[in-house]
Order: sequence, then C-alpha cells, then structure tokens
Amino acid sequence: MKINIAIDGPAGAGKSSIAKEISRQFGFVYVDTGAMYRAIGLYMLRKGINPKEAEKVLPLLSEIKLSLRFSKEGQRVLLNGEDVSEEIREPQVSMAASDVSAIPGVRDFLLNLQQEMAKQNDVIMDGRDIGTVVLPNAQLKIYLTASAEERAQRRRAQLQEKGIEDSFETVLEDIKRRDYQDSHRKVAPLKPASDAQYFDTTGNTLEESVQMLSNIIKKHFNL
Ligand code: DC
Repeated sequence: MKINIAIDGPAGAGKSSIAKEISRQFGFVYVDTGAMYRAIGLYMLRKGINPKEAEKVLPLLSEIKLSLRFSKEGQRVLLNGEDVSEEIREPQVSMAASDVSAIPGVRDFLLNLQQEMAKQNDVIMDGRDIGTVVLPNAQLKIYLTASAEERAQRRRAQLQEKGIEDSFETVLEDIKRRDYQDSHRKVAPLKPASDAQYFDTTGNTLEESVQMLSNIIKKHFNL
C-alpha cells in the first residue's frame, strides 16, 4: 500500500512550495496536478482556441500527450515531448488552466493519469479536488489556505523571481477571479474534503508551514 497525501486549497496558499519540501524530506513523489491543467491551457492558447469553449477544446485533447518527469529539482511537465515547465507559470496560462479545468471532459482526461501515479508511488499530490475526487482514499488530506492578500503577495514574489512584473492589485484580482471560478464550477469544485485537516498559513513562514506538516506526517504514518 502506497502512501497517498492529498493537499488542496486555493491559488497561492503555499501548496506547491510546501509539498515540494515535504517530498524532499520524506522521499515521496510530488505531483503538481495544476501543472497538468496549465499544460492543457497552454496548448489551447497556442492553438488560438478560447479555453472556455468546451466544443473546441475537447476535440484537441486527442492531440495532447502529457507526461511528468520527476527529478530531485522537482516535477517537469512535458507537452508532446516539449518541456513547458517554465512557460506554464505565466499569468495568462493561469486563467486558461482554470478555464479548461471547468470542462468535465478535461478533468476525465487527467483523472486516470493522476490516479495511476498515486497507485504506483508514495505521493504527495496537490490540486483542488485531490481529497474529494482524485484520491478519496488518501490516508492524509490537508486543506491549505491563507488570506487572499497574503496569497497575492506570495504569488507576486514568485513571479518577480521569474522576471515577471505585475502590480499587487493585478495579481490579487487574478487570484480572486480564479478562486471564484475554481470553487463555483459544477464539476469537482475547490472545497475541503469532509475528512481534511484545515490549515490557515496566513502569517507563517514557509519553514513554519513545512515543519507543521512534517510533524503531522511523521505522527500519522509513524515515520
Ligand atoms: O494549482 P495551480 O494554480 O497551478 O492550478 C491551475 C488551475 O488548474 C487552477 O486555477 C484550477 C485548476 N486545477 C484544478 O481544477 N484541479 C486541480 N486538481 C488542480 C488545478
């Protein structure tokens, strides 16, 4: 039986930074499911397709081969063999990812891939519906959140590191719009699983949040 840990929460809650560090500490595979939706969003943008239009998006899924590579530096995302790990972080891809993720056929397309990874590896998997839909039997489920303002600050700092300059207001607006869309869609909306442990990381440093989760994992799995 593999260790499956689900981490869900809104954009910028710290899921990926925390999960990446935990995967390093414990030797788990870190699966960033948002990156898969981002790769599909990017593909549609490149094709000039409106990522909200299901009837245009769905026929193109058969052209997409997605694969993930795992290394010590983290996950790399390959879109038809091309490494798009950096490009998918651009702000316009965030919204396109949220748009395609509301299409049920897109979610089905990714579900099997995500579940197979968790069957074959000890994983810490992050996203929006991991504890509710993808891994309902995960042994440990965490719902991470933080205030919208703090999440926007963190996201802005991440973008700045990559040389992308956006105003605080723009990033905050983008985060709020995505949160609304991700939590109000019909299929697999963002919400805490009934058996998830809820953590608000507002005011925490990354190290504090990692330490907290690390303690929970050690206790939970007797590691
Ligand atoms: O985690 P992220 O910001 O990289 O995710 C990008 C978008 O993908 C997010 O706005 C909603 C969608 N998503 C989803 O619907 N389900 C997931 N499990 C992960 C991401």
